[in-house]
Amino acid sequence: MFDKNDFATNQPKLIDRFNRFPQKLRLSITDKCNMHCVYCMPSGKISLYPKNEILSYEEIQRLATIFVGLGVEKIRLTGGEPLVRPEIEKLISGLSKIAGLKSLGMTTNGLLFSQKAAQLKAAGLQSINISLDTLKPDRFKSITRVDGFSQVLSSLQTAREEGFEVKINTVIIRGQNDDELVDFAQFASNTGYPVRFIEFMPLDGSHIWDLSLVVTKEEMLRRLYQNGIEVLPLNNRLSDPARLYSFKGRGGSIGFIPSMSEPFCGACDRVRLTSDGKFLTCLFEKPSNDIKQLLRMGKSDKVIADYLIDCYRKKPLGLVGLLEHKPIRSGMNLMNTIGG
Ligand code: 5AD
Ligand code: SF4
Repeated sequence: MFDKNDFATNQPKLIDRFNRFPQKLRLSITDKCNMHCVYCMPSGKISLYPKNEILSYEEIQRLATIFVGLGVEKIRLTGGEPLVRPEIEKLISGLSKIAGLKSLGMTTNGLLFSQKAAQLKAAGLQSINISLDTLKPDRFKSITRVDGFSQVLSSLQTAREEGFEVKINTVIIRGQNDDELVDFAQFASNTGYPVRFIEFMPLDGSHIWDLSLVVTKEEMLRRLYQNGIEVLPLNNRLSDPARLYSFKGRGGSIGFIPSMSEPFCGACDRVRLTSDGKFLTCLFEKPSNDIKQLLRMGKSDKVIADYLIDCYRKKPLGLVGLLEHKPIRSGMNLMNTIGG
């Protein structure tokens, strides 16, 4: 097995043509989900990866260790829905022991979180982002196609009780939930859960994305202001895609992830691994860097690391570059396979 120390001194790290280097790895560990959000999954039968195409926990552990050896400091588990994978606490327990890893988090839809929270905490999970697109139980059912609003709310509560760092992710889509901006801001202020409003991206399996459905950060801020909610910018780190604000005269904070209106590609510090073992250097690139193949051919850690370095060198500029060359369209990549 590869020794991190040897490797760190002898091996160049991941770096691209624009001098970007990744500190964050998002590991999609399954493309399955126990919700079917209208903007993410198509309504009919969806095709999922066959089981043997999905990386095993041993394979994920090995790759994660290689990534940390190449400079990654933070890992976030995503899906699909990561908690539908059996015995996920075993994976978390292994990952949390990787020397040099500074933070381990998860993005979850919150349906199963409450019942697993204590085990996940004990295994070493530190932070969670819970997706919640509405505060209305009926609307929750029509967006996610699951009657699970109260379960998600109790997951938020349990997460706090168990001592997790908790954030809420809210994808704002015009005509679907943009009438709840003010309610969400008040919820964030009253409960102290930071809500991060995400601009709708063309990464939808449902092919409903259209520019007219995107509510930009500026529009959201204007609409909050018009409704008497004033916010003050907090100090933002350039590499953090969320622009954070505190409320004037009251507690709590909110954030905006302006992926479409202010793409943060120039400061991008993240890479992704899909559950079927493809290395994605950018959200919008076609999944073609096949790491699973190398793993299953019995290649050494050094060969795999060299391949990752080579792929990363070719990382595209990102959405900014794309917008210059071709019109953006819906479903450019599928969120349930890359986990955001
Ligand atoms: N655009 C923006 N965010 C999305 N998410 C899922 N699909 C999209 C999309 N097309 C969000 C989920 C989750 C996070 C991983 O990404 O709601 O919170
Ligand atoms: Fe599942 Fe998340 Fe997609 Fe909703 S957005 S269907 S919770 S993967």
